[in-house]
Amino acid sequence: MLKVVVLASGTGSLTKALIDAEKADVLQAHLVAVGADREADVLGIAAAAGLPTFLVVPADFASRDDWNAALAQAVEASKPDLVVSAGFMRILGAPYLERLGRITINTHPAMLPAFPGAHAVRDALAAGVSQTGCTVHRVTADMDAGPILAQTLVPVLPGDTEETLHERIKKVERLQLVAVINQIAAGAISLT
Ligand code: GRF
Repeated sequence: MLKVVVLASGTGSLTKALIDAEKADVLQAHLVAVGADREADVLGIAAAAGLPTFLVVPADFASRDDWNAALAQAVEASKPDLVVSAGFMRILGAPYLERLGRITINTHPAMLPAFPGAHAVRDALAAGVSQTGCTVHRVTADMDAGPILAQTLVPVLPGDTEETLHERIKKVERLQLVAVINQIAAGAISLT
C-alpha cells in the first residue's frame, strides 16, 4: 500500500478529506503521518484520527536550509512513497527537494500557471475571471510551476467572496487529490 505523508499548515480540511477517504476505502493509500510548520488545527485533526504528527518550525532553525533539512528528516522517518503538500504554506527548498522532491506533489487552488502563490483565490477573484479551479502538480524548485498532474475548473459565481469561492474550490480539490493519489498508487501516474 502506498505510504503517504501529508504536509499542511492550516485548517486541514483537505487532510481530513484524505483521512476520511482512507477510512472509507476510497483512498488506495495509507496515510502514515501529518507534518506542519506551525501549531495548526490540522495537527489536532490528524492526532484525533490516530495519525502520528510532527512539527518543524522555521523559527527553531538558524537558517531556512537547516529547516528544510530537518523537515526532510522528519518526513523520511515515516519512509513515505509519496509526500502530499495540502495547504503547506512554506516554500520547499533545495535541502528538502534533493531528498524528497521526486515524490512530493502539491495541490494549488487555481488553474496553474494562472494565479500562482499564496493568494491564488483572492487574485482570481480580483482578476474578475468567470472560472478558476485547482491543480495538482509535482513540487520543484520553481514555486507552483512543477509538471501538472491534474486540473479541474471551478466556476466563479456572482457575489463570491474569497471564502465562498475557496470553499467551492476545496470541495473539488478534495476529490481531485484522492483521484491523483489513487492514480499514483495504481501506477497510472509515475513519479520516477
Ligand atoms: C487548499 O485550498 C490548498 O490548495 C491551499 O490551501 C488550502 C488548504 O486548505 N494551498 P485546508 O487547510 O486543507 O482546509
